[in-house]
Amino acid sequence: MAQLRILNLGCGTRTSESCVNLDWTLWALLASRPAVAKLVYPFFGSLRRNRLRSMTGTVIAHDLRKGIPFPDRSVDAVYLSHVVEHIDRDQVAGLLSECRRVLVQGGTIRIVVPDLARLIEDYQESYRLAVSGSITWQQHDKALEPILEQSVRRQSRAVVHTWPAAIQRAMTVAIGDARKRGETHQWMYDEVALSHLLLSCDFVDTRVRDPYSSAIEGWKEINLDFDHGSEYKPKSLYLEAQVPEGSMIPAKGR
Ligand SMILES: C[S@@+](CC[C@H](N)C(=O)[O-])C[C@H]1O[C@@H](n2cnc3c(N)ncnc32)[C@H](O)[C@@H]1O
Repeated sequence: MAQLRILNLGCGTRTSESCVNLDWTLWALLASRPAVAKLVYPFFGSLRRNRLRSMTGTVIAHDLRKGIPFPDRSVDAVYLSHVVEHIDRDQVAGLLSECRRVLVQGGTIRIVVPDLARLIEDYQESYRLAVSGSITWQQHDKALEPILEQSVRRQSRAVVHTWPAAIQRAMTVAIGDARKRGETHQWMYDEVALSHLLLSCDFVDTRVRDPYSSAIEGWKEINLDFDHGSEYKPKSLYLEAQVPEGSMIPAKGR
């Protein structure tokens, strides 16, 4: 059987040889240009070098706000892990419509996001414990952090932790702060909101999955949603939907 064509959009450094991986970061730029990457290797410590080397498979450096650089009906599956919440809320429908355009009929979109419903449940439980004095306010704060911190941060965490100070400053001047780089959350989703969004973009058969199950054949072997047998990003919502057979192709860049 022919290999499935899978797009891993907003891949970060988490790429796969089974996918075409796309992101707009410096990592993607370097991974997509091995000759340039070789030139900068000597300036990297082993951590950064290993990170870049771990980016296997085809990588494309591209800004998703400009659409998806693939022809109509050219891929079998599109995967977005912890990406949709980073896109401006008023641009998400346009991105999903682009996903539908590049997917074949019967193709699958798989979206993974932090599950707002579960995070709020955790928050409420933590609140009860804090009010009754069973946990400290610092412990309670930890339940609020996954809901709010990434929505309000200015300083890019990824850059702070991975690049020297001079490069951080240059990158902030060149491409802006955490918000401009798409590092902050622009919105959060639960099953109801994300299903509605997919259905409004003419996908059908929305279905909640888990890290190991998917309509995408061989997904478990691709191994992007789990690490060493446990969920890669705990408290995530895994939602899939299909492109209906016989449907029209949406216009590019709707
Ligand atoms: C939280 S990371 C998730 C990375 C990876 N998918 C994962 O699950 O570990 C969000 C990714 O979306 C990418 N992203 C955000 N806006 C983007 C855009 N407009 N074009 C391309 N990538 C974008 C960011 O660069 C970042 O790598």
